[in-house]
Amino acid sequence: MKKYQNILLSIENQVAIITINRPKQLNALNTQTIKELNECFIYCSKNLDVRVVIITGSADKAFVAGADIKEFADFSIEQGKELSKKGHESLFNLVEELNIPVIAAINGFALGGGLELAMASHIRIASENAKLGLPEVSLGVIPGYGGTQRLSQLIGKGKSLELILTAGMISAEEAEKLKLVNYVVSQEDLIPKCLEIAKKIIKNSPIAISAAIKAVNAGYTNGLDGMEEEIKQFGSCFKTTDFIEGTSAFLERRKAEFKR
Ligand code: CAA
Repeated sequence: MKKYQNILLSIENQVAIITINRPKQLNALNTQTIKELNECFIYCSKNLDVRVVIITGSADKAFVAGADIKEFADFSIEQGKELSKKGHESLFNLVEELNIPVIAAINGFALGGGLELAMASHIRIASENAKLGLPEVSLGVIPGYGGTQRLSQLIGKGKSLELILTAGMISAEEAEKLKLVNYVVSQEDLIPKCLEIAKKIIKNSPIAISAAIKAVNAGYTNGLDGMEEEIKQFGSCFKTTDFIEGTSAFLERRKAEFKR
C-alpha cells in the first residue's frame, strides 16, 4: 500500500480509515495534505476491498483546524481564487461525489476547512470534546472549501449565517441539535460508532449505494434536477448484478450477498 507523508491509511474488514496526521499543526490542510487526500480517496474509490471510508484526525485535539493559514497568508487575489477552486475540485467535491460512503469521525476541533471536509462527507459523528465552526471571517476571508453552501444545506440559512458571521465555535452537543452531526459519542466510542454504521452500510448493494449518493447530491447541485436524477439512477439499478442478487435473495428468503 502507498505510503503518504501527512496521512495514514488502514484497510480492514472492507473499511478504510484515513487519518490526517499533522498533529503539531492540528491537522491543518496544506497543499501536500490535500494532494495526498485526493490520491487516497481516489485509491479507495477504485479499491474493490473498500466499501466505506472513515476520515479522521490524529491525536485527541483536532479533526482538522482548517486550511493551513501559514501557507496562504501572503496570497494574491488570483492565488486565493485558485486555492479555493483547486480545493473544491480535488478534495471537497471528490468526497461528496465519491461512489462509496464517507463517514467523518470528528475527534476534536473541526474548524474552517476541517468542518468543510466533514460537511462534504456523507455522515458525521462527533466525539463529546469536538468543537465546530467556520472562523474564516475572523481572518478577513470567507469559507472557501464549500462551507457557505454546505452549511446552509445541512442546518438552514439562518443558523448558517449566524455561525459564519459570528465566526463562533459550537459544541458537539449543539451541533447535534442543529443536525450538523448525526451522533455525539464519547471519545473512545467514536471509531466503534463509525464502524457500527459502516457495518450496516456494507450489508447493502454497493451499486445502489453509489446511485443513491448521486441522486441525493443532485438535489443540491445547481443545474441538476434531483427527481430527474432519481428516475435515471433508479432505472440504472435494474438488471445489475446487485439488483438480481438483492431481489432473488428476497424471493428465495435468504440474505443477499453483495460484492463490489
Ligand atoms: N493553519 C496553520 N496552522 C495551524 C492552524 C491552521 N488552520 N490551526 C492551528 N495551527 C497551528 C498553530 O499555528 C500552532 O502551531 P505552532 O505551535 O507552530 O505555533 C499549532 O497548530 C497549535 O495551535 P495553537 O497553539 O493555536 O493551539 P490552541 O489550543 O491555542 O488553539 C485553535 C487551538 C483554537 C484551534 C487555534 O489553533 C486556531 O484558532 N486555529 C485556526 C482555526 C482557523 O481559523 N481555521 C480556519 C482556517 S482558514 C480556512 O479554513 C479557509 C478555507 O475555508 C479554505
